[in-house]
Amino acid sequence: MRTVEPKILYFGTPVALISSLNEDNSTNLSPISSFWALGWTMTLGLLNDAKLAENLARHGECVVNLPAPSMWQMVEKLAPLTGRDPVPELKSKQFKTEKDKFAAAGFSRLDSELVRPMRAAECPIQMEARVLSLHEMGGTKLAELGGGLVAVVEILRVHACEEFLKDGSDHINPNKWSPLVYNFRHYYDLSDTELGKTFRA
Ligand SMILES: Cc1cc2nc3c(=O)[nH]c(=O)nc-3n(C[C@H](O)[C@H](O)[C@H](O)COP(=O)(O)O)c2cc1C
Repeated sequence: MRTVEPKILYFGTPVALISSLNEDNSTNLSPISSFWALGWTMTLGLLNDAKLAENLARHGECVVNLPAPSMWQMVEKLAPLTGRDPVPELKSKQFKTEKDKFAAAGFSRLDSELVRPMRAAECPIQMEARVLSLHEMGGTKLAELGGGLVAVVEILRVHACEEFLKDGSDHINPNKWSPLVYNFRHYYDLSDTELGKTFRA
């Protein structure tokens, strides 16, 4: 074993596209991978300089859209874009402002049922949510990236594409569903090899 100092600690987490409400009531769409769920409560890790952080602080609603692995190139089209205008200093060399992220990446807008930000129609799972709280994260390495926030959100409604459901039930079929996984800035799907299941599955 060696002591190492990797630049990032992205050990492979699913990608979500978060819909949030811009000040003109249009919907912004931001890729994130720092998120997880406990029950129907979810944490989202947001860089301070993202339009997403600004939008959630102003309007506490969002949609957590989960893209399929086949959509990785659409996600990658969003990667160099920000809803911020002008582009924040730290991002100015690599990013450009884009008002219509849906069109830029080839996603269609779909009205949500309980919140104002719109859903990304092509994503097979879409979760409408409201913000419960926002917390500063702290930490020196994160400060070098401009700092970050945790948004704790509560999922209000889950929409799932029929093909990923176990017949006629509300259960997502893990043999059919795979998230798009972000693994040290490379995109993966889950391998087909199931290792086993937990006693409560
Ligand atoms: C696959 C992927 C995962 C990302 N994960 C995060 C994340 O977890 N949190 C975050 O704030 N930014 C993340 N980013 C960077 C944001 O997408 C980037 O800051 C973008 O400008 C956000 O858009 P916005 O400024 O319009 O909100 C990720 C980018 C990609 C492509």
